[in-house]
Amino acid sequence: MDRLRIRGGSPLIGEIPISGAKNAALPLMAAALLSSDGLTLENVPELADIVSMSALLKELGADIQATPSPDGRGRRLFIRAERFTSFEAPYDIVRKMRASVLVLGPLVARGGEAKVSLPGGCAIGNRPVDLHLMALEELGAEIELEAGYIHARAPKGLKGGRIAFPMVSVGATENALMAAVLAHGETTILNAAREPEIGDLAACLIAMGAKIGGVGTDTLRITGVARLGHAVHPVIADRIETGTFAMAAALTGGDVELIGGQLDHVEAAAKVLASAGVAFTATARGFRVARANGRLEGVDMMTEPYPGFPTDLQAQFMALMSTAKGAAMVTETIFENRFMHVPELARMGANINVHGASAMIRGVERLKGAPVMATDLRASVSLVLAGLAAEGETVVNRIYHLDRGYERVERKLTACGAEIVRERET
Ligand code: UD1
Repeated sequence: MDRLRIRGGSPLIGEIPISGAKNAALPLMAAALLSSDGLTLENVPELADIVSMSALLKELGADIQATPSPDGRGRRLFIRAERFTSFEAPYDIVRKMRASVLVLGPLVARGGEAKVSLPGGCAIGNRPVDLHLMALEELGAEIELEAGYIHARAPKGLKGGRIAFPMVSVGATENALMAAVLAHGETTILNAAREPEIGDLAACLIAMGAKIGGVGTDTLRITGVARLGHAVHPVIADRIETGTFAMAAALTGGDVELIGGQLDHVEAAAKVLASAGVAFTATARGFRVARANGRLEGVDMMTEPYPGFPTDLQAQFMALMSTAKGAAMVTETIFENRFMHVPELARMGANINVHGASAMIRGVERLKGAPVMATDLRASVSLVLAGLAAEGETVVNRIYHLDRGYERVERKLTACGAEIVRERET
C-alpha cells in the first residue's frame, strides 16, 4: 500500500488540469450496457474505480477498448456488450466499489435480469439501496433478496411508471433513468437528483436515442424506446476535483488556474469560499483561485443535494477552515458518520468539536505535520490539503482510497510547487 510524504508550507502556484468526472464516468460506463451497438466515452479519467467498473462490464460480456482521447484529455473507451454473458455483479467487485450497483437498471432493462451483490456496510454510513429497488419495482421488475444478492427480473421487459423518490438519491435517479429509457411507455421520476452528473448521463442517453424531458430539473419525463444506438460522448469535468484544488490553492495561500474547471458546477461551494475570502476569476481556459486578502475567515456551511454544497467537498472544507480566523460550523446532512477525518485533522493540531451531524471548527494559526491515516476517498484528500499547508512533514498512510478518485494527484500538485512524494509502505 502506498503513502504520501508531504513537506508543507509552499503555496501552490501554477495551473492544474481538471480530469473527467469519476462520478459521471461510472454511470456512463454502465449506460453502455443499454445498447448492443456500444458507446464511445472520451475524457475518462484513469482511476482505480474506472478499472473496477471495466472489470465488472467485462464480466457481464462487454468488450472494452481503451485509447488516449483524441484531444489528449483522459482516455477514450469504446465499450460494447453485443450480448450479455452473465447477469451477475459479484460481491468481490461490488464490495470494492458501491457504484457497481449502477449496472442493475441497464441489465434488467435490456437483458430482463440482474443479480447484483448487496453493497453492504460502508465507511461513511449505512448507504442502503432501497430507493434503487423501489424505482425498479415501480417499472415492473420483480425483486428478491437472496444470499446477499439483489435478484431482479423482468422477463417481458419493463413498463413505464411513476417513481416518486421520498429523498434525493444520485445513484437511484441514475438507475431509474437508465431503466426507464428502454421501458415500454412513459415514466415520470419525481424528486430526481439534479447533480451535473445526471445531466451528463441524460445528454449521453439522448445522443444514443433516448427520449428524456426535464433534464436539469427534479422531474424527469421519459418515453421508452425499443433500442438505443451508438454515440460518442465526452465526460464532463470533475466538479469535486475542481473544488478540492480550489481549496488547496486557498489553504496554501497560492494562486492556481484550474484548466477546464467549470465554475457554474461549483457555484454553491464558490459562494461559501468567497465569503471566507477566496477570490475566483474566470479565464479563457477555466478559472483562477487565490485568497482575496490575508487570512481566511471562518464561515458556516451545510451539505445539501445539488445545487447545494456537495458532501464530497465537506472534508476538504474542514481542512480549509481549520486555519481560518474565528469559528466555522459544518453540518453534514447527506451521510451519517462522515467525520472520520476529524480525529486525523486533530492530530495535526486542528481544533474541531463534533456534536451529532455538526462540527465546530475553531481556526488555529498553523497546522503541524503528523503521520495520519486515510479513511475514505474525500477524507484522504482533506489530509493531503492539510499536509500541504502544515508546518513540517505529514505522512498520509493508506492512500488507496485517494487513487480511487483523484487522477495523478501528487503530479498535479508537484507541478504547482508542492513537495509531495509517493512511497511504498513496507
Ligand atoms: C453519489 C456519489 C457520491 C456522493 C453522493 C452524494 C457516485 C458514484 N457517488 O453516491 O460520491 O457522495 O452521491 O452526493 O456518483 N440513500 C438511501 N437509499 C438508497 C440510496 C440512497 O437511503 O437507496 C441515502 C444514502 O444513504 C444517503 C443519501 O440517500 O444518505 C444520498 O445518497 P446517494 O445520493 O444515493 O449517493 P450515491 O449515489 O451512493
